[in-house]
Amino acid sequence: MFTSHSFPPLVIRGRSLLPVVQGGMGVGISAHRLAGSVAREGALGTIASIDLRHHHHDLAERCRQSPDRATLEQANLTALAREIHAAKALSEGRGMIAVNVMKAVSAQADYVRVACENGADAIVMGAGLPLDLPDMTQGHDVALIPILSDSRGVAIVLKKWMKKGRLPDAVIIEHPAHAGGHLGVGHLDDLHDQRFDFARIFGELATVFASLGLNRQDVPLIVAGGINSHDAVRALLDAGASGVQLGTPFAVTEEGDAHPNFKRVLAEATPDDIVEFVSVTGLPARAVKTPWLTRYLRHETKIRAKAGALEHACPTALECLSACGWRDGIEKFGHFCIDTRLVAALRGDVANGLFFRGREALPFGTAIRSVHDLLELLLTGVTRPAVAGRQAFSLG
Ligand SMILES: Cc1cc2nc3c(=O)[nH]c(=O)nc-3n(C[C@H](O)[C@H](O)[C@H](O)COP(=O)(O)O)c2cc1C
Repeated sequence: MFTSHSFPPLVIRGRSLLPVVQGGMGVGISAHRLAGSVAREGALGTIASIDLRHHHHDLAERCRQSPDRATLEQANLTALAREIHAAKALSEGRGMIAVNVMKAVSAQADYVRVACENGADAIVMGAGLPLDLPDMTQGHDVALIPILSDSRGVAIVLKKWMKKGRLPDAVIIEHPAHAGGHLGVGHLDDLHDQRFDFARIFGELATVFASLGLNRQDVPLIVAGGINSHDAVRALLDAGASGVQLGTPFAVTEEGDAHPNFKRVLAEATPDDIVEFVSVTGLPARAVKTPWLTRYLRHETKIRAKAGALEHACPTALECLSACGWRDGIEKFGHFCIDTRLVAALRGDVANGLFFRGREALPFGTAIRSVHDLLELLLTGVTRPAVAGRQAFSLG
């Protein structure tokens, strides 16, 4: 448990936490080991709900034998339940365990239900406006945390939820110019729009909160994207954030649930290796230019011209997205199987995987360090010499 730092706690649904949050990272990058280790230090750790069956040998085997959609979906729900229980056991009752569910995912309602039924402390929802999340979680004592990018999105969610008698327990504001994975913006040209500046959003939200009769403390704001030092944490908390969320720096920790090659690709990427492109969800995304992505981007225009408007059978049978550029033939979206590519990355397949990553340098440079060391650096500025690393990894 990490205790010695000088920042006020992040308080979510009455629970006092370290003001550093570990963001959800799919597929399988933040499972029970990472989320549970973060919670054990007294912070909010997040399991990414999507496609967790790959971490469970028996479930992966069952899916190999019956690769139909119903079997795959059931295996993923069983895996999510197991991961929540394992994370909670690892946390020893400290911190909080959240489950991240992307609105764009077709099984979103099932993931939310299983998370609630298996004792998740919070549901974090992004990649779309989570307007119906309070209805989906009715009757469960669970914190609800939307991920948004600008004050307009926050205002829409607040107004809609207040009509249902519910406030978000916190809001994560993710900056599309810096964060890893899918980015909350309609178009690649918009990534650097000034409406995403945290200072501007804090100012605009003060007006929104006042107009709705809310105090700033009623809804803690957690900012995300490119945060990589103690000074950055201090500056953002001083500027009005109640917490900060990090993704990439946690993905490369010893406790991160991905293959060591995954961590190496992220940690060793230089600024020139990081690229933004349009994903099969239609949202822009940020990743490392590994061999597959380099090839895909080289041929993107040709692929779009040739296959852009053609419908295809889902290559995995999972039908993971409600709208998929490849399956549904949506010309302006990306055209590849995102599930296959993300699972390859999780397994450490550098040639074929898709490696999501944030834009900025990492707190420990290329070094792989523990969750405890990362939290200590962010909260106190202290870096201790590394001790012998624990690197464990297993996939079904
Ligand atoms: C490998 C990777 C996978 C991610 N997957 C998800 C996801 O499944 N759902 C989500 O809401 N955010 C996802 N994110 C975003 C992170 O939760 C986090 O908000 C973001 O990475 C913060 O920026 P940073 O990486 O610069 O710290 C992902 C990020 C990375 C690096």
